Amino acid sequence: MSNSLTLENISRNFGALKVLQDVAAQFTGGKITALVGDNGAGKSTLLKIMAGALAPTSGTIKLNDEEIAGLNPAHHRARGIEMVYQDLALAKQHHVAANIFLGREIACPLTGLLKTKEMRAQTEALLEQTGIKIPQLDRPVGALSGGQQQAIAIARALLVPPKVLLLDEPTAALAAKEVDMVLDILRQQREKGLIIILVSHRLNDVLAISDNIITLKHGRIFNDRKTADTNLAEIVQDIVS
Ligand SMILES: Nc1ncnc2c1ncn2[C@@H]1O[C@H](COP(=O)(O)OP(=O)(O)O)[C@@H](O)[C@H]1O
Ligand SMILES: [Mg+2]
Repeated sequence: MSNSLTLENISRNFGALKVLQDVAAQFTGGKITALVGDNGAGKSTLLKIMAGALAPTSGTIKLNDEEIAGLNPAHHRARGIEMVYQDLALAKQHHVAANIFLGREIACPLTGLLKTKEMRAQTEALLEQTGIKIPQLDRPVGALSGGQQQAIAIARALLVPPKVLLLDEPTAALAAKEVDMVLDILRQQREKGLIIILVSHRLNDVLAISDNIITLKHGRIFNDRKTADTNLAEIVQDIVS
């Protein structure tokens, strides 16, 4: 049976500002849901709440039947919810394997020394599996292209196969060819049954890849459309109306 992530009446205030109000939604495995909306609509806040990086002011999150809201990112990660942040959070001066294993390095239990060969081999296997081509694994990731850096940030989220993958604007800074590489990774993960939630203002990418499109407006869900039954004009209308 596929996994499901359920949001029940999620609200979040920052001081007097009501950034999210009564957001309810259900996401199922094997589907890509796009979350769109104007700047300030609350998209990033909602993703961070799903990732456990922010607590909701009220409301609950359930993964399958387990309630997980209001804890922390490590707890959400341990349950299979991974987020790729807009700024990627890569250590730019470090090479690819160091970034893939950032914060969960493999060390020898006796000496405490890092098992760099082991991490390098696992990195190669992960990139191979996910169809990501990075010719020079030993370069600092800051020297790689924007698309390669985005792919590494996604690969890091896939190291321990998650149930839910949250992505904040993964194609915003990329050239067209790089966009295709990122969308291909997401299609492949959808095939594997992941729940994928994608925040993006690039509506052509959203229309190309998503199964449904939720529009957030002033912190509320304004519409939820099946991608196959809509078009660019309708989505733009939902966002700006
Ligand atoms: N940490 C914070 N403190 C105060 N206000 C915040 C914080 N994070 C976001 N906001 C506000 O919440 C609103 C929604 O922000 P955000 O979720 O980033 O929107 P989006 O990603 O849709 O552009 C904005 O008005 C923003 O200024
Ligand atoms: Mg945002």
